Amino acid sequence: MSATDATLKAKYPAKAHCRRVAKYLTDAGFSRDGVIYLEAQKTRMVEDDDQAMHFRQRRYFFYLSGCKLPDAYLTYNIPQDQLTLFIPPIDPDSVIWAGLPESKEEAYRKYDVDHVLYTDEVNAALAAYGPSGSTTVYAIPEQVSEHITFLPFAATQFACLKEAIDECRVVKDSYEVALIKKANEISTLAHIEAAKVVRHATNEQELYGAFIGTCISNGAHEQAYHSICASGTSCSTLHYIRNDQPLRERLNILLDAGAEYECYCADITRTFPISGTFTPESKTIYDIVDEMQQSCFKLLRANVKWEDVHENAHWVAIRGLLKAGILVGDEQEIFDKRISVAFFPHGLGHYLGMDTHDTGGHADYDDPDTMFKYLRVRGEVPAGAVITVEPGIYFCKFILDPVLEDPGLSKYIDQSVLDKYWTVGGVRIEDDVHITQDGYENLTDTPKL
Ligand code: GLY
Ligand code: MN
Repeated sequence: MSATDATLKAKYPAKAHCRRVAKYLTDAGFSRDGVIYLEAQKTRMVEDDDQAMHFRQRRYFFYLSGCKLPDAYLTYNIPQDQLTLFIPPIDPDSVIWAGLPESKEEAYRKYDVDHVLYTDEVNAALAAYGPSGSTTVYAIPEQVSEHITFLPFAATQFACLKEAIDECRVVKDSYEVALIKKANEISTLAHIEAAKVVRHATNEQELYGAFIGTCISNGAHEQAYHSICASGTSCSTLHYIRNDQPLRERLNILLDAGAEYECYCADITRTFPISGTFTPESKTIYDIVDEMQQSCFKLLRANVKWEDVHENAHWVAIRGLLKAGILVGDEQEIFDKRISVAFFPHGLGHYLGMDTHDTGGHADYDDPDTMFKYLRVRGEVPAGAVITVEPGIYFCKFILDPVLEDPGLSKYIDQSVLDKYWTVGGVRIEDDVHITQDGYENLTDTPKL
């Protein structure tokens, strides 16, 4: 058994997460005499149809329960350190269609909780917390059902729980890292399969099918995000979603795809030539992006400032594009005028966890500085965070044309050289890394070229 699978034999550490969130709240000055209350995502019906919509568990609820059941609830009594999960009881009308629901005994066995009750007992359980006269209930306001009553509580505190969980989620424990690693292991099998399929594929959709099919066959039934199976110039569309174009006469594939495993995500990008061999231009760009990533890896350690790592990627890009002859002029001027942003317009990476773009990054999308506007993590990256390192260089006419039309900026670009690169489309290489005190652990073992 792999070390990852051995770690995952234990229960998801819901109680530890409850304690961590409670500590965050009390450290922030909120009352310790309190109860955390959360609801799972509801079963929702498809409009004008009698089928349930695709279900995705609420991350706040999963973090404190490890439970993927729809329509469940939880309470965590902070001073007593007691976690109670409320699961849906048997609905006799639905058993013939859906089978028996998870029983209390199964729930006790599966989840790291102290008590399991049925969902029709939630209000009674909440009423039992109240009589002390001082208890605060912590909840996420837009995630409280109408039939729930907090009247027995002395105070309701709706302003801080979401933020507390968002911030606690940044630092992963070893169980969460193992889940992300497992999502990566399955995604790697799927990336390898998709790369094999490209040898005889005629359309992007064959890679798409191979990727998702391989994830499902290996136990990951959900995708972390919509796969990006781009070919040719579509590789320059950062979140390309069509995945249906013929591969004929196109140079490269950019495959950005990751499985979700037990609510945890992988996010992996590989770029490779359809023919098996890069053209010289594609190889030039691939090597620059590879160097951007390798150079950024060297900077990773606890509390590194993410803006510094992102800037480093730009410097490597600028030097590489100057060497290739696409850029011309003084490298400091090119950096200061943000010319490289037209080739590398997105951020170097984002936190990764239960969400692909995970919480706690404090992006500033209003930043007037184009180099940092789309950087999804700002400030220091703590030990224990999992973050993507995903540099890229793209040849996108929509972005580059305004630069080429501006004489103050176009003087830094040799258009006759640039013209040889449009068909490269774009190159991105993306791995998921776990930040440690002195460095990092790369959780992605997907082969590179
Ligand atoms: N994998 C897509 C993204 O990080 O935005
Ligand atoms: Mn990503």
